[in-house]
Amino acid sequence: MAKHHIAIIPGDGIGPEIMESVLTILGSVGFSAEYTYLEAGLSAIEKGESAMPKSTIEAVREIGIALKSPTTTPVGGGHTSANVALRKALDLFANVRPAKSLPGIRGPFADKEIDLIIIRENTEDLYAGIEFQPHPDIAQAVKVITRPGSRRLFRYSFEMVRRQGRKRLTVVHKANIMKLTDGMFLEEFRNIAKEYPDIISDDIIIDNCCMQLVTKPEQFDVLVTENLYGDIVSDLCAGLVGGLGLAPGANIGEKCAVFEAVHGSAPDIAGKGIANPTALLLSALMMLRHLGEHSIADRLMQAVLKVCEEGLHLTGDLGGKSSTIEYQQELILKAS
Ligand code: NAI
Ligand code: MG
Repeated sequence: MAKHHIAIIPGDGIGPEIMESVLTILGSVGFSAEYTYLEAGLSAIEKGESAMPKSTIEAVREIGIALKSPTTTPVGGGHTSANVALRKALDLFANVRPAKSLPGIRGPFADKEIDLIIIRENTEDLYAGIEFQPHPDIAQAVKVITRPGSRRLFRYSFEMVRRQGRKRLTVVHKANIMKLTDGMFLEEFRNIAKEYPDIISDDIIIDNCCMQLVTKPEQFDVLVTENLYGDIVSDLCAGLVGGLGLAPGANIGEKCAVFEAVHGSAPDIAGKGIANPTALLLSALMMLRHLGEHSIADRLMQAVLKVCEEGLHLTGDLGGKSSTIEYQQELILKAS
């Protein structure tokens, strides 16, 4: 029996192409697992199911680990996002997104060494889905922040900082204006910080944080923030280090973890064999570390660094001319 069991969601658009590429790369360095393929997105909708079928959610819950490609969310008309459904059902409360400069990749900050992680709360805030219209001309949304939700997020964040040997955790908020909600969030951060005297903890107001991120991004280590701020700021961070084709992510809950790239299903390039599989590969490396497979993750990371630094086999989104397969073959060569 394989040592690991992983749920695979191939998704839509470029999803199946990059998933096949990533699983081929993992196999090339001797990683083996039992893979259970699950449906989500358009293929599920075409069969008359929801974008995130109950059977898929239950299978991920039972298996505990999933590698997921992006799914297309049809615009309008009662289609809820497959991702939101999965995060909610499995209570995946922390969304972890690293942003790290890669050698040879021209982001807006080619001269700076950026190595930060942003942790976004994934279940509360204005994304709790509580909206109503008390009058035809008025629409309202409720912002929900809870002490237990904040505490588990901060505990997870401090533990991650410690586990990864990082130094500092910064909470991003707007407590000067939203005194009750963000005020509670900040208060709980300070309470939990007392349990981690070995880690530098501080706070920054969201608007100043954005300005600092685009002027001195190298100053940050790990940032933790609420759902809405985190959604926006984590995309900004992806942009700092070369864009969506390189940005990985993990959705972490008490019992389950779902690893996926930040980018979407890229329908504009689907089926052309030119998608960049790196973001999903880096997500898979986060998964390998979660599974304790550090040496395989290190080896593949070295290969990613070499291919980027050399710059001869990059995909179109990074200014190169290589196809998905050419990039994959070069990566496998560098990892062997
Ligand atoms: P997108 O991320 O799919 O595409 C934005 C641009 O980046 C496009 O030009 C695309 O070609 C390019 N791009 C993205 N990933 C790439 C890769 N790996 N290699 C090369 N180029 C890449 O965002 P968009 O167009 O807003 O969304 C498309 C669909 O994806 C929508 O239905 C959206 O709802 C869904 N989506 C799904 C997500 C998920 O399942 N986690 C996350 C974000 C969007
Ligand atoms: Mg987003």
